[in-house]
This record gives sequence, structure tokens and C-alpha cells, in this order.
Amino acid sequence: MDASRETIAPLLLGWYDAHARTLPWRAPPGTPPPDPYRVWLSEVMLQQTTVAAVAPRFARFVGRWPDVAALAAAEEAEVLAEWAGLGYYRRARLLHACAREVAARGGRFPATEAELRALPGLGDYTAAAIAAIAFGQPATVVDANVERVVARLFALRTPLPAGKAVIRAAAARLTPAQRSGDFAQAMMDLGATLCSPRAPACMACPLAAACAARAGGDPASYPSKAPRTARPERRGRAFWIARDGMVWLVQRPATGMLGGMRALPDNGWTARADGTAPPPLAGPWHLAGAVDHVFTHCRLTLELAVYTGSDWASLPAEGQWWPLVQLAKAGLPSLYVKAAALAGRDGEK
Ligand code: ADE
Repeated sequence: MDASRETIAPLLLGWYDAHARTLPWRAPPGTPPPDPYRVWLSEVMLQQTTVAAVAPRFARFVGRWPDVAALAAAEEAEVLAEWAGLGYYRRARLLHACAREVAARGGRFPATEAELRALPGLGDYTAAAIAAIAFGQPATVVDANVERVVARLFALRTPLPAGKAVIRAAAARLTPAQRSGDFAQAMMDLGATLCSPRAPACMACPLAAACAARAGGDPASYPSKAPRTARPERRGRAFWIARDGMVWLVQRPATGMLGGMRALPDNGWTARADGTAPPPLAGPWHLAGAVDHVFTHCRLTLELAVYTGSDWASLPAEGQWWPLVQLAKAGLPSLYVKAAALAGRDGEK
């Protein structure tokens, strides 16, 4: 069977009608589209984070800020703290900036891909996803799952990332004029479930008869990837300064890694260099151990030094004492949650 819009779209939509995943931001197959606010929020959350991790956080977020006006009225620090643990915090700042822009224009999201693309934080993928899912536009939505499905369907061998343009063009030729939001989400679901990276379940796949990679016998070898360069390894040190059931927290600079997030003070590590700055207090310090964390641009080993002195008058001006029993509410990025757990274990010794 040829893989064309006329053959693929009905097969895939039929499969989706029976097998769509039930997700909190979704409308059931064939029903009117969901609120653009919920589509936008879910797509931003899902950009770098898994469906399983996003689902409970999405529910909490919309419970707290049910529409774009409510989110626009929130403090940025509150939004960042609510985002804690989801990673890629730049997304949360841009999300908030976008909410403010949409609220300033009367609270309605624009309906076309081009206008959506012009909003803060909306790239090609997110603009297309919102246009298709919330507004029924025949936009072509290509994430990593869709890339895999399309590369296999047409046995496209150009390695990623250069192959992306070839895959996108092939995906565009499949996008139907009707039910484009369901079609986009059906592609995503197929990629997330049956058309998995290592062990595709071709026996259950609605597109198997049209799939060139399956006919070739080695679908798991698609898409080809250019060899990945190793992440640089960085070292940093964070400082645990605690007193009377409180810990000293700072706010990270607005730009750079974990920008604007609450954090433990540290020695100025970045994705490009190890930390070298002196501790916020002269000493005495004791090393409690180290935690490892993987970021997009580096692997970090973060040592944790625990302050054992009492020279409180010498603390720098920027920072705040935060009650340890409330630490979960500080909105610390996962790296510092791990470091705080290490301090807790150290304190038990
Ligand atoms: N990943 C990104 N967006 C998604 C969506 N709308 N449904 C399922 N998985 C997704």
C-alpha cells in the first residue's frame, strides 16, 4: 500500500478513535477542541518532559491558575516555584511572559500558526500543535515521536538532525484538512506507544501495511542519528548554611542555567566552566558528599559543603532564611532537592 494522505489519515484516525490515550488536557477523539489555554500549557510542559511527569503537574497548575488572565496576574517567582522539578526553567519564564502578552491582547490566543509563532516561547512545534489541536488548522506537528513514525513510514535515511527537514516535508504531505488536531495527537500516540524507539510493535500497528521500514525488515534502525558529542563534565560546590531549623537560600541570576530559580548558594559553576568563587562565609566547612545531575549541556557533579560555624553577621545581603519544614514549598530545582537530601543525611550522622 502507498503511504499517502488518502490512505494514512483514515487508518490512523480510525486507530486513534479506538486507542487514544486519555490525558487531562485532551478532548476525546472526534469531539470539539479543548480550551486553547490548556492546549498551550500542556504543549509547553510537554516540550522536554514526559507525559507521565506532566499529567499531575498540569492538573495542579490549572487548578491554581485556571485561565490565561489568572496566570498573567501571578508573580513570576510563584510560577517558577510551581514549575520546580519540571526542568528547563526558561520555559516557565517564557510561559509567564506569553500569558501576559495574551492577556494584554484581551485574553484570547490567536488561531493561526504564524501569529502563535510570534508569541514568547512558542517555536515551530508548539505553534503548530496549538493551531492544530485547539483551532483545527491543518498544521503539521512534528515532535521526536512523529519524526520516528514518519522516518519509518517512508524509510527516510538522512540522519538527524539534518534529516528533520526531509521528515517534516513528508509529514506535511500526510496532514489531512479535517481532524488535524486528532491526526497530530494520533501520530504522537502511535510514536509513544506502538512505534517505539527500540522494539516497535508492528503487529499491532494500523500503518504496518504501508510502512517502508517494516517492509525493509529493520524498522528499529530508523531514524538514523548522527553520533552525539559527549556532554562536558563540570564540577561545582553548593553551600549548606543552616541555623535554628532554617537554611540560607538565594535567587539565581535571571539568565543562565536555572535562571531566576531559588537555590542554595554556590561557587559559580556554569555549563561552560567549573565553579571557582569563594564560599559566602569564610568557614569552617565540612564536605558532606556530592550529587550528580545531567543537564542538556553538561553533566554536573555538585559537592555539598556544610557550614559548621556561627558567623551569621558576615552573610551577604542577598538571600533569605527559609524554614526547613517548608523546604518543599521553596520551588527548588531537582539538583538542589538532591543536595538538600544529602545535607539531611549528613545531619543524621
Ligand atoms: N506530547 C506532546 N504533546 C502531546 C499531546 N498533545 N499528546 C500526547 N503526547 C504529547
